[in-house]
Amino acid sequence: MTVTVAEVGQHEGEAVELAGWVYNRRSSGRIAFLLLRDGTGVIQCVLSRDRVGDQGLAVFERLTQESSCRVRGRVRADRRAPGGYEIEVTDLEPVHVAEDYPIKLKEHGVDFLMDHRHLWIRTPRQNAILRVRAAVMALAAEILAQEGFVRVDAPILTPSAPEGTTNLFETDYFGEKAYLSQSGQLYMEAACMALGKVYCLGPTFRAEPSKTRRHLLEFWMLEPEAAFFTHEDNVALQERLVRRLVLGVLERCPRELETLGRDPEHLRRQVEGPFARIAYDEALRILDEHGLTLPWGEDFGAPHETALSRHFGRPVFVERFPTRVKAFYMEPDPDRPEVALCADLLAPDGYGEIIGGSQRISDLDLLLRRIDEHGLSREALAWYIDLRRYGSVPHAGFGLGIERTVAWICGLEHVREAIPFPRLLNRLYP
Ligand code: 4AD
Ligand code: MG
Repeated sequence: MTVTVAEVGQHEGEAVELAGWVYNRRSSGRIAFLLLRDGTGVIQCVLSRDRVGDQGLAVFERLTQESSCRVRGRVRADRRAPGGYEIEVTDLEPVHVAEDYPIKLKEHGVDFLMDHRHLWIRTPRQNAILRVRAAVMALAAEILAQEGFVRVDAPILTPSAPEGTTNLFETDYFGEKAYLSQSGQLYMEAACMALGKVYCLGPTFRAEPSKTRRHLLEFWMLEPEAAFFTHEDNVALQERLVRRLVLGVLERCPRELETLGRDPEHLRRQVEGPFARIAYDEALRILDEHGLTLPWGEDFGAPHETALSRHFGRPVFVERFPTRVKAFYMEPDPDRPEVALCADLLAPDGYGEIIGGSQRISDLDLLLRRIDEHGLSREALAWYIDLRRYGSVPHAGFGLGIERTVAWICGLEHVREAIPFPRLLNRLYP
């Protein structure tokens, strides 16, 4: 029977078949070792002349790195073998003999690896990251379902710009201008008035000219939105969600975190207790102590986020930013209208903002004023304005960046490794 490397432990002593690719190989005349990877793990397959004969060893000799093959043999427990098991091969069958493989088992430069991203994802480290990413998305869906949220997806081609007009990807829609979605939020606001608690999870696009380790041009965002939610409800949900996401990855992906060299106890300590929470004004005081003085009313740049993110050793909410640096839809604080009922959640270890969220304006006149002030089109947003005409209610939501969250959990240096095929400044290939 064909089993995966991950399942081998359930078949100790049995004859099994594995199918995969040659990750590495070495031989010494009478005996040969083939490290087979199949996407679920890597296992050592041992070919001895006694069992496979000269013919079997000759087949092995033809199998270059990344050649595909089927291996049959007996599963043997071996504490010294990586993974704890090895295969005593009785039969080795080539599927395809690979040409000279460009990615050697040595260090390569980042540009070279990015040009070969379609092959780079085969390596154990990238494999581990993609598995953590999948776990984060699956956990998010499970956690939000338990919280009573319904998945409602948002369109990618849109007529308007929720997050400002400077970083839009424009496209032609049969003579009309359309934009790739920066955020599904506005559609989730409509959907929460229909279903109560909703979310979307999908790709979003920002033509960001910034070349930082936090910015992608295409990234995935999880965007919950709930009717009758206040700023307080919103922040509390974010904290529950992020804590459970991290604890869930610790439970489901221990081997992946080990491959990545990420200390699980370090992550656990960061999320176990209550998250820190400070106002924008307090953040300015802390930044000042770090020699990063910022006048009131300015938004944070990358160095400010990094400094704040390192300061607490656990996730920190920075709330109540000046209204003028934030998006048009944010509800002002009734006690202090110059700040918004919003919060950014900064991940620790210098990772910076992973969530942006707020309570939304529910008053029709205020919303119209803000749309005008931001130079947005009342016409394009007519449907969104309608939501304030027919049973408007307080509501709130947020957007969690999947890649930044994965980068933090995995301890990555750059978000480009947290997405299968990154879109970056000057990179649209492969
Ligand atoms: O703070 P942002 O821009 O918020 C919104 O788009 C809201 N409409 C979300 C909402 O309330 N429904 O983006 C939210 C998150 C950020 O905190 C960050 O994690 C991620 O999306 N993000 C990016 N990730 C990678 N590359 C980029 N260029 C990103 N821009 C934002
Ligand atoms: Mg933001």
